[in-house]
Amino acid sequence: MKVTVVGTGYVGLVSGTCLAEVGNDVLCLDIDPEKIRILEEGGIPIFEPGLQDMVRRNVEAGRLNFTTDVGAAVRHGTIQFIAVGTPPDEDGSADLQYVLAAARNIGRLMTDYKVVVDKSTVPVGTGDKVKAAIADELQKRGVEIPFGVVSNPEFLKEGAAVEDFMRPDRVVIGADDEQAILLMRALYAPFQRNHERLIVTDSKSAELTKYAANAMLATRISFMNEMANLAERLGADIEMIRQGIGSDPRIGYHFLYPGCGYGGSCFPKDVKALIKTASDDAGIRLKVLTAVEEANDDQKHILTAKLKSRFGDLKGRHFAVWGLAFKPNTDDMREAPSRELIADLFAAGATVTAYDPVAMHEASRIFGDDSRLRYSNSPMEALNEADALLIVTEWKEFRSPDFDAIKARLKNPLIVDGRNLYDPKFVRGMGIEYLAIGR
Ligand SMILES: NC(=O)c1ccc[n+]([C@@H]2O[C@H](COP(=O)([O-])OP(=O)(O)OC[C@H]3O[C@@H](n4cnc5c(N)ncnc54)[C@H](O)[C@@H]3O)[C@@H](O)[C@H]2O)c1
Repeated sequence: MKVTVVGTGYVGLVSGTCLAEVGNDVLCLDIDPEKIRILEEGGIPIFEPGLQDMVRRNVEAGRLNFTTDVGAAVRHGTIQFIAVGTPPDEDGSADLQYVLAAARNIGRLMTDYKVVVDKSTVPVGTGDKVKAAIADELQKRGVEIPFGVVSNPEFLKEGAAVEDFMRPDRVVIGADDEQAILLMRALYAPFQRNHERLIVTDSKSAELTKYAANAMLATRISFMNEMANLAERLGADIEMIRQGIGSDPRIGYHFLYPGCGYGGSCFPKDVKALIKTASDDAGIRLKVLTAVEEANDDQKHILTAKLKSRFGDLKGRHFAVWGLAFKPNTDDMREAPSRELIADLFAAGATVTAYDPVAMHEASRIFGDDSRLRYSNSPMEALNEADALLIVTEWKEFRSPDFDAIKARLKNPLIVDGRNLYDPKFVRGMGIEYLAIGR
C-alpha cells in the first residue's frame, strides 16, 4: 500500500519504517529540513535500538523515502498518517496546531480518496476537528473528494519502539467509515498474524483509550513513589513490598518501580492534557490524576532533598550523575528527572559531571555551554573528585559496576540511587554509604 507519514519524529519514523519493512511503499514528511537531510544521508536523527538498520534496509529496497515536499507527500499515500507533536499549550491542554496544519495541507492538496489517520496523541473530539479542517479546505477549493478519518493512537515505548510496533499488544482503530476500517485492517494484518489484535471503536473512545493508558501507568508510578516515601519513614523496604504486591495477578509486577519521578514526552504532558480536557470539556475535576501529577512533581526533587539532608549546604559540592535520558535505551530528555536534578544542584551552588551512553549530545543542546556541567566519556571517569554518585537512569551498564573502583574514585563513598539498582546490604558491605528510594 502507498502510505504517507506526516511528522518524522519518534513515532512517525518508527511507524513509517516498520510499515515499509512489511512491504508498503512509505514516504515520510517532515517540516524540519535538518531531520530529512540526516535521513537522506543514511543517518537517523534519534537513538532507538534496531531502527538504524531497519531504515537503511528499507531505503535501499526503495520502500522508504523522506521529503520536505508537502505536495509530494499528499500525492503519495492513500493512507496519510499524522504523527506530529502535540506539546502542552501554556494552560496544559494539548496544542493541536501541528495536527490541524497537517490536516489542512491534506485537504488543500488532495486529488483522490484519502484515509487520514491520526496517530498523534490528541484530546477527545480531535477526529471531528480533523474532519472539519479537511472538509473546510475542500470547500474552499470548491471540490468534493471523499475521505475517511481514523483515530489510531500509538502505544509504542521509546527504547523498544521497533519491537512494539512490529508486535503490538493491540491496535486501536477509532472510525465509523467501513472503507477506512477495511484499509486499516489490511494495513495492520502483517503485524498480527498470530492472532487478531485490532480493537475497533468509535473515534472518541480510541482517543480517550490512549490517555487512559498513560494516565494509568503514571498512576502506578506515583502510587509506588508515595508508598516508597512512606516505607522509608517507617523503616520498611519498598522492594520487598513491590514483590509482595506484584505477585498478586490483579496487580502484576509491571510498572511498579519506585524512582525519582516519571518523565518523557508522554506521561507528563498526557496527564496534564487529560486533567485539562476533563475540566474544560466535561466539567469534571480528576482528583486522582491531579494527585498523581503533584506527587510526581515532588518526586523529581527527591535526590536533591536526600543530598541536602545528608550534606546540609550543597554550595561548592561536586556530584557525578549517571544517566540523563528519561529512561534507558533512548536519548530523549523531554521532562527527564535529570533536568530537574541538575537545575536543583546548580541553584544550590553545586557542579556536576554527567555520563549517559547516548543522551549527552541532547543534554549539551539543552543546557548549552555551562561551566557548571561537564560530561565524561565513561561512568567511572565521571566520579573523579565527586562528593557522591547520583543514579538517575537505570541503564544496563550501571547495574553491576565495580564498587571498589567507585569507592576509590569518589571523595565521599556515597551513592544516592534514584532507581534502586543495588542491594543495600551488599553496597554498604563494600563500605559505601547508600541512599535509595524507599529502603
Ligand atoms: N514518543 C513516544 O514515545 C510516543 C508514544 C506514543 C504516542 N506519542 C505521540 O505521538 C505524537 C508524536 O510524538 P513524537 O515523540 O514522535 O514527536 P516528535 O517531536 O519526535 O516528532 C514530531 C515531528 O513532527 C514534525 N512536524 C510538526 N508539524 C509538522 C507538519 N505540519 N508536517 C510535517 N511534519 C511536522 C516535527 O518537525 C517533528 O519532527 C505525539 O502526539 C505524542 O504524544 C509519542
